[in-house]
Amino acid sequence: MTAKIIKGKELREEILAEIKAEVDRIKEEHGVVPGLVTILVGEDPASVSYVTAKIKTANSLGFKEVQVNRPDTISEDELLALVKKYNKDKTIHGILVQLPLPGHIDEKKVINAIDPDKDVDGFHPVNTGRLVIGGSEVRFPPPTPAGIHELIKRAGVKIEGAETVVVGRSNIVGKPIAIMLLQKAEGANATVTVVHTRTRDMASHCKRADILIVAAGVPGLVKPEWIKPGACVIDVGVNRVGTKISEKTGKEVAILKGDVDFEAAKEIAGWITPVPGGVGPMTITMLMRNTLNALKYKLGIA
Ligand code: GUN
Repeated sequence: MTAKIIKGKELREEILAEIKAEVDRIKEEHGVVPGLVTILVGEDPASVSYVTAKIKTANSLGFKEVQVNRPDTISEDELLALVKKYNKDKTIHGILVQLPLPGHIDEKKVINAIDPDKDVDGFHPVNTGRLVIGGSEVRFPPPTPAGIHELIKRAGVKIEGAETVVVGRSNIVGKPIAIMLLQKAEGANATVTVVHTRTRDMASHCKRADILIVAAGVPGLVKPEWIKPGACVIDVGVNRVGTKISEKTGKEVAILKGDVDFEAAKEIAGWITPVPGGVGPMTITMLMRNTLNALKYKLGIA
């Protein structure tokens, strides 16, 4: 069997076009556009590259985009004051503080300071609670799990009743995607198992998965023999395993590897996401959708 490759890059274009059409319509009918502030602390190359891509996408959709860069010497109080400033700003509907933050800043404190109705990353405990309750309570599903869910749904994979195994229990990916697929709702109703570093026999769980979602951050963790023939394999791993010179730009770029051995796995799986070009492009797309929805909630049209 050769798996169908789920191309996040193509799906991204489809969803961004849907968002752009809605932004244009709202601008015409209500005279406002979604406003997003991105707050970047320090110069970590991965964070700089993520934030740059977020800004570029927001601009391409006609959002108001405010870019705030601060040195990693910023104090916790200064950062909290910055968040509070944008909580009050009526032209800003989404606040994104790029993580990780420097060690002297309490990440939880910063996330908790964001107005939950502007928390387009969906990391605030209020939004985590809304996600757990499900249904119409959900406002901002975190972008990466929301992107994974969208990829699985749009690929036409049957989720209802599917044995679903999530590898990894992070707050950003593993826990929220497990909850989303577990909900009593259309496009969910899966039977979900979460495995992690203390699981006794990870392989035995993975082997019975109809849907296998791997977000461990360990290159090549999932072996081809762990994959059930015909399964849908979603690889969330983005592991920088070295650098190379890009043929397109001549610049040095990171070599990325997933948590799954793609070449071997694609001969067994029914569907599989590549790294890069699978889940990655969906994260920013769903962040944009959350920002649009933040405006729609404000306008009472969500
Ligand atoms: N760092 C890595 N992933 C993310 C994300 O989804 N949001 C934010 N704010 N920071 C991140």
